[in-house]
Amino acid sequence: FKKKGYHKQTWINKMINKAIILAGGMGTRMSPLTKAVNKQLLPIYDKPLIFYPLSILMLAKIKDILIIVNKGQLNQYKKLLPDGKNLGININYKEQNYPKGLPDAFLLGERFINKNNVALILGDNFFYGQSLSATLKNCINIKNGAKVILHKVSKPELFGVAKIKNKNKILSIKEKPKKFFSDLAITGLYFFDKNVVKYSKELKPSKRGELEITDLLNKYRKKNKLSAEFIGRGGAWLDTGSIEDFYNTSAFVSNIEKRQGLKIACLEEIAFNNKWIGKKDILNSIKFYGNCEYSNYLKKVIL
Ligand code: DAU
Repeated sequence: FKKKGYHKQTWINKMINKAIILAGGMGTRMSPLTKAVNKQLLPIYDKPLIFYPLSILMLAKIKDILIIVNKGQLNQYKKLLPDGKNLGININYKEQNYPKGLPDAFLLGERFINKNNVALILGDNFFYGQSLSATLKNCINIKNGAKVILHKVSKPELFGVAKIKNKNKILSIKEKPKKFFSDLAITGLYFFDKNVVKYSKELKPSKRGELEITDLLNKYRKKNKLSAEFIGRGGAWLDTGSIEDFYNTSAFVSNIEKRQGLKIACLEEIAFNNKWIGKKDILNSIKFYGNCEYSNYLKKVIL
């Protein structure tokens, strides 16, 4: 009983109720696949990529979501994820004219954020693992400061990386360091207090002409307000930046789903388990998706 009460408590006290999915970008590394279709709408095995980061926010019990998309691609997204009502959540959209850098999410999202704490997830990040729920619970409770999630990688030069001390104190961070610095990558899921808009406005574009997330995180670090959570070695974090990554991540999802008979990132299932939607809503979703394997799975969810 005690344990049940504790769980309830942690979710109720959550300080982060809003999140942004940054799902724009040109996807140039994946051209010609991305010439007509946005990268986040391409499939990872049996669902569009965007389902995976959205599922993580829903697992973190975040219901108010802003999706930032590339200019001209709003209609494609709205066909797939209209306004969130079917999932018991609220989805807003905003267009980004061109990729100005990750912190641009907080400039574009200023009205949406409206002095609240906020999470940011990159539209191309994939997370999976049993420890994830506990990690998410720790992250959505932050009142002040910022939190990042770190994961050990074999090619740190491809990511933002962090050096830490005393388990979760961040000493320094660097974006894609050429020389070895640390093998702890900063994953594309970040949690910020309400100062994030103010700090983002103070940023200047880097040499490559973009606002850098590491510069934003450094502002928090210098004030001693940046902490870290971890995905242990039992968890998976994949960033789907290249065609090869798409195939590998698809294979990963396919293997797990076939083995367990459970789907990763089935949005309606998560909403149903969160008690945000009922059987009727799932039946509507089945109609919406039509006769397909995803619908067959949804039928089993409400059996
Ligand atoms: O995936 C984690 C990494 O993501 C972090 O370790 C790095 O610190 C962080 O800078 C970022 O690195 P990437 O090289 O993966 O960032 P990229 O420019 O590829 O952008 C990530 C996603 O965000 C991508 O799907 C496109 C989207 N995006 C990006 C920018 C710069 C936008 O929608 N708008 C933008 O302005």
